[in-house]
Amino acid sequence: WNKIGLIGAMVEEIQRIEERLESRTVTDKAGIRFMEGTFCGKPVVLCKSGVGKVNAAVCTQLLIDRFGVDAVVFTGVAGALDPSLDIGDIVISTDCQQHDMDASPLGFPRGTIPFAETSVFPAHPELVRLAVEASERLAEGRTLQGRVLSGDQFVADRETVRLLHERLGGACTEMEGSAVAQVCAMNGVPYVVIRSMSDKADGSAHVNFAEFAVQAADRSYRIVERMIGSM
Ligand code: ADE
Repeated sequence: WNKIGLIGAMVEEIQRIEERLESRTVTDKAGIRFMEGTFCGKPVVLCKSGVGKVNAAVCTQLLIDRFGVDAVVFTGVAGALDPSLDIGDIVISTDCQQHDMDASPLGFPRGTIPFAETSVFPAHPELVRLAVEASERLAEGRTLQGRVLSGDQFVADRETVRLLHERLGGACTEMEGSAVAQVCAMNGVPYVVIRSMSDKADGSAHVNFAEFAVQAADRSYRIVERMIGSM
């Protein structure tokens, strides 16, 4: 890997990397700040995409086109869908899908992109392996490899959790991963998403998110630190 794109959606998800980013060059484009430098001795481009799939998609395409990254790592927090996951546990993406893509009145199953060849975008096996290894070395909470479901929605009810877990096979839900994954697939660039659970996407999600997002973001950061250090 020559140059790695590192994305978080919110300031809490990137600030610890930013603090340790050396010899940075800053470029602003499309309202996003791209910070080039070295992190753990590796060339990286760090950015805060903003929340949601459009922000994440634009950010990822710019990382690829303007900065020539040859891998993308997303770090941040998510709501747990798999009932075995607790707050603080980790999901490493095996693949990503948009749960709010829904043309079902036209006969397309929920989560599938009409007329597209695929709607589920696999993460790169080597990046997954490195992330899982880093997470297991950190040894804080459980590490699960699974499907990351993204939508432009903060999920906060049990019925949706059940649907997303049982019907779409999601391990966790967030708002950017599948956009990153799809843009990476469209450009032939490897990616992985690392998410620490800030909540369980249920009726308490907004309270839990407020209380645990910073700690969860920090745990995801420490995995990225170990992962990049081992690359
Ligand atoms: N990010 C963290 N928790 C989330 C949730 N419950 N829904 C969507 N994105 C999230």
